[in-house]
Amino acid sequence: TMSVEDMEKAVLGIKKRLGNRLYIPGHHYQREEVIRFSDVTGDSLQLAQLSAQNREADYIVFCGVHFMAETADILTEERQTVILPDMRAGCSMADMADIDQTERAWTKLQELFGDTILPLTYVNSTAAIKAFVGRNGGATVTSSNAQDMVSWAFEQKERILFLPDQHLGRNTAFDIGIPLNAMAVWDPHKEELIHEGDIEDLKVLLWKGHCSVHENFTTANIEALREEQPAMNIIVHPECRREVVAMSDYAGSTSYIIDMIEKAKAGSSWAIGTEMNLVKRLIANNPDKNIISLNPNMCPCLTMNRIDLPHLLWALESIEANQTINPIKVEKKMAADAILALNRMLERA
Ligand code: 13P
Ligand code: SF4
Repeated sequence: TMSVEDMEKAVLGIKKRLGNRLYIPGHHYQREEVIRFSDVTGDSLQLAQLSAQNREADYIVFCGVHFMAETADILTEERQTVILPDMRAGCSMADMADIDQTERAWTKLQELFGDTILPLTYVNSTAAIKAFVGRNGGATVTSSNAQDMVSWAFEQKERILFLPDQHLGRNTAFDIGIPLNAMAVWDPHKEELIHEGDIEDLKVLLWKGHCSVHENFTTANIEALREEQPAMNIIVHPECRREVVAMSDYAGSTSYIIDMIEKAKAGSSWAIGTEMNLVKRLIANNPDKNIISLNPNMCPCLTMNRIDLPHLLWALESIEANQTINPIKVEKKMAADAILALNRMLERA
């Protein structure tokens, strides 16, 4: 086995030899040992935009999770190869909406509401779901453009189906003025709509999915903090539950959180409700501020964490050996439908 220093040297050597033929995007939730070798870092929207723009790399080694690598493959050219350093780097939220469940839900919802619904999907979804949304006239959204995209959707249709994160869907719809009683949850296991009041009044149909990392932040965490440290600013990701976002001071995407912390006054105090690798990095990069995790027992996103230095090196060595591991290739027809949904978003961003 190699020492960490030898692995780092090997990664740097391969990066140097491959030059612009290699591109390494890294999501903000990646481990420090990996993100330090990425060519760019960003939130989901930025990484999708950057992949769509890069036409010179032959190999894109994506440091993030599977749905991000699929999106990069869809948005790059056929000759460009996207590699995910560890195939186990999935996303439990994306896995909560499978395509067969979604097609069945769509049929039932059309029976209930006719042709009044536009599907939207958070980019945290499989390529199959993006393709479903694309062929039905809808678009993808990210946490940094969700309000704009939901408003756009209501210009097209009376109702939206929001996949797969109920929390981002609910938080966004609430922010643009839709009352909670005009929202219902579609349970894909029971195959039923959970709602109060008249079905005719429903505007937002939320898929019953969530992020297991962000559901760990609770109103109890906030109550405890407000009591013990009332000067703390609380900032959370909109994948947190509605009650948690409602009690926080600020909510936004990973890039929004980073911007807010970086421009905050020296000496200010922040409790952050998002993934731990990012919180740790913000603590390290902002020694003049007092930063903690909103939940003291927080863990990193386990699937993001699967991309570590040995896997990154393994992926890079496979390129030089001409035996690339883990290529992510979305099937052509699926990619053609999915790109419709992605482009409806990217055109507006
Ligand atoms: P953003 O970087 O777009 O805020 O996404 C957060 C996330 O959960 C990615 O999996
Ligand atoms: Fe998926 Fe949540 Fe991990 Fe993001 S943080 S990759 S949404 S499980």
